[in-house]
Amino acid sequence: MRRKLVAGNWKMHGTLQKNAVLLEEVRRGVSGLGCEVAVCPPYPYLGQAQSILAGSAVGLGAQSVSEHAFGAYTGEVSAAMLLEFGCRYVLVGHSERRALHGETDAQVAAKFEAARNAGLVPILCVGETLAERQAGRTESVVAGQLSAILDRFGVAAMAAAVVAYEPVWAIGTGITASPAQAQAVHAAIRARVAARDAEVADGLRILYGGSVKPQNAVELFGQADIDGGLIGGAALVADDFLNICLAANR
Ligand code: 13P
Repeated sequence: MRRKLVAGNWKMHGTLQKNAVLLEEVRRGVSGLGCEVAVCPPYPYLGQAQSILAGSAVGLGAQSVSEHAFGAYTGEVSAAMLLEFGCRYVLVGHSERRALHGETDAQVAAKFEAARNAGLVPILCVGETLAERQAGRTESVVAGQLSAILDRFGVAAMAAAVVAYEPVWAIGTGITASPAQAQAVHAAIRARVAARDAEVADGLRILYGGSVKPQNAVELFGQADIDGGLIGGAALVADDFLNICLAANR
């Protein structure tokens, strides 16, 4: 049985004051839950989150990482630095990084590997745009994003990773993929990995992201191949986030 994971991606939101309240509420609210819960605040707040979440069941993650270990890379943050702040997870290849910062599959793969080498668990984000879905290209786009990792590092690289399927058209739009739409892509992702190694595929957690709310989380997380969620907007509201975590706890 795969243990469900709910991760909150705060994106570029927060203040020291607001975070303190949110983190305390999340910390209190998840105690006793059977699913795993993590939050991914912006870099400058990792220290604050680390200290508020110390000793709690809530894991910490970052939203991106440099593919380089150290050096003259102004503005970048290395995997080793994230580890020093208690991170366990790091998002790689979020669609906003791909679209707004021009991250290519090759760069995403390098970030994935930098994270893994440092002992972080990469959460590889994949997903198609609306135009790609309408052109019937969803599965091939997602397969290509997965292949960037599988072809370069082999299927074993997936054993210590998480995949998040986030259809670009569902992110921040209020339009969620239907449970059946999401399940179909999740099953296709698992089948791609299974074609290389059935055991790795069986253990792989595949999260859904894109307008997950308390109202739709139960049905989404009830699908056979949906192992939790990557939550944006709703992760900024403690009650919503906690109710989504509860939905993963069934
Ligand atoms: P929303 O939940 O706001 O749609 O964002 C999803 C997302 O991009 C999480 O990484």
